[in-house]
Amino acid sequence: MSTTIRDLRGFKERGERFVMLTAYDYPTASILDEAGVPVILVGDSLAQNVLGYETTLPVTMEEMLHHTRAVARGATNALIVGDMPFLSYQTSLEDGIRNAGRFLKEGGAHAVKLEGAGPSLSRVRAIAGAGIPVMGHIGLTPQSVHAMGGYRVQGKSEEDARRLVDEAQALAKTGVFSLVLEGIPSTLAAEITQSVPVPTIGIGAGPHCDGQVLVLTDLLGLSAGGYPKFAKRYADLRGEITRAIGAFRNDVTSGRFPDDAHSYH
Ligand code: KIV
Repeated sequence: MSTTIRDLRGFKERGERFVMLTAYDYPTASILDEAGVPVILVGDSLAQNVLGYETTLPVTMEEMLHHTRAVARGATNALIVGDMPFLSYQTSLEDGIRNAGRFLKEGGAHAVKLEGAGPSLSRVRAIAGAGIPVMGHIGLTPQSVHAMGGYRVQGKSEEDARRLVDEAQALAKTGVFSLVLEGIPSTLAAEITQSVPVPTIGIGAGPHCDGQVLVLTDLLGLSAGGYPKFAKRYADLRGEITRAIGAFRNDVTSGRFPDDAHSYH
């Protein structure tokens, strides 16, 4: 039985911190699953990290579903959350329900995530009302990069902080099962975490959230550069891959590969 949204609520009630990580393909999903990661987010950060777009805005439902299916085939224990791409839910309630449903019906996800409060509240209500678990996401919401004037820490003024606390409470009342807090001051994340019954999952939101999420390519050191301050690198896979490819090329050009041990006789 895979992790459920009830398990996440249990983590919060027992004060057990947990992790969520992004995955976009079959092999990494199976590694995360074997490593015991309870929640896998097929983030719309797929756009930059795998598809080479500059922002999350261009990624489509079809691209998201394609990668969600691969992740679902690789992970049998984790709760799989499909990230609703830009314009898949903003346009109407009906679009929101239909596209959220596609993540479960065609993608093999167990839940969806969408950004924002305000107009997104009616989407959360409708999608959750259709029996689809919804994860919220407030603070620095990348789909609003242009409206925010860039990727900026949110909730720094007293007024913005108040608004974010209100948004978190409204989302919790409307039916999200958990809430991503991105790019906000630690003290504000702590206040929100204490003021909502659902687990908060922080990214660039300090240590006081119920769980933490990182983008896998950041954690593994796979990106070409431009790591945000909060993205701790636990490995240098880009360096390791570059080294391995260089070793292969040297072996081939010098005639050391394939050797006897790697040839059929
Ligand atoms: O798309 C993504 O990777 C995300 C995380 C940053 C939470 O939304």
